Amino acid sequence: METVKKVTFRIKRWIPEEGKFRIDAFEIPVFRGMTVLEGLIYIKENLDSSLAFRRSCRMATCGICGIIINGKPMLACATQILHLNSDTITLEPLKNLPLVKDLVVDHTPFFEKQRLIKPYIIRQDEGEEYWNPTREYKQTPEEVEEYLQFSYCLTCALCYAACPTSGTNKNYLGPQALMNAYRFIADSRDEGVFIRLDIVDSPDGCWGCHLAGSCSDACPKGVDPALAIQLLRKKVIERDLGYLKTVKGTSLVSPLPHIEGAKRVEPPKFTIRGAKKKAQEILEKYFK
Ligand code: SF4
Ligand code: SF4
Ligand code: FES
Repeated sequence: METVKKVTFRIKRWIPEEGKFRIDAFEIPVFRGMTVLEGLIYIKENLDSSLAFRRSCRMATCGICGIIINGKPMLACATQILHLNSDTITLEPLKNLPLVKDLVVDHTPFFEKQRLIKPYIIRQDEGEEYWNPTREYKQTPEEVEEYLQFSYCLTCALCYAACPTSGTNKNYLGPQALMNAYRFIADSRDEGVFIRLDIVDSPDGCWGCHLAGSCSDACPKGVDPALAIQLLRKKVIERDLGYLKTVKGTSLVSPLPHIEGAKRVEPPKFTIRGAKKKAQEILEKYFK
């Protein structure tokens, strides 16, 4: 591809053996549409194979390539170099997370906090259907709208890196975990509202937020964690004033009607344990 210009990447690299940062500069040829991630891959393949950074999907889906680009948390794979409109681009590892090497950070504290808010549907009627589901729970389009924007989160931790409270209080749940708590509370299938409100109702939870909104500003998916935190506070107050009664999740859709003579087709039994064998069978059946 045709080189349009040369750009310098100034990379703030964490050197674990020395316990300090070092800044290295690399000049790279840039083509139209080239992303910051492609620039990093160019450096690794041509200039310095020791450079460490994370990437996987390269299409703003997995959320692993987040770094600080020119002072702002961004996805390296979703940021075009020419759009930055600068001959020198500074790159740093995400803030508020333990450093590993160069641009790589350890996301464990971020995911631990997400785990604390129980990021899954909670039902009080746990029975056979809960563990071995055969049907869906009812949900209207309006009910989906209540949580849809919050379900777009790809757990990239950009909001966490942008949050000043996460930077000063390591126990603060952070914008993503709090937003995700609201995402499940707003889901009409869920019955875990009181469990989650107990978890978030603290100075390390929804009351620790300073409402600066940098989390929402940083989100590459247009999720608004600052809004979700305000809605969480509203729920806590409703609960404390006694307005929030027991929440009953939606019921299952009706079973399909029995049609005389219709042949029932069982879903394929497909387990992780048998996945390799099953994939081999499919390959042999259809592609040989
Ligand atoms: S609005 Fe709250 S959660 Fe978002 S960045 Fe500011 S302090 Fe953090
Ligand atoms: S809310 Fe946005 S910025 Fe935060 S983890 Fe999810 S996708 Fe990333
Ligand atoms: S590599 Fe997956 S989001 Fe960037």
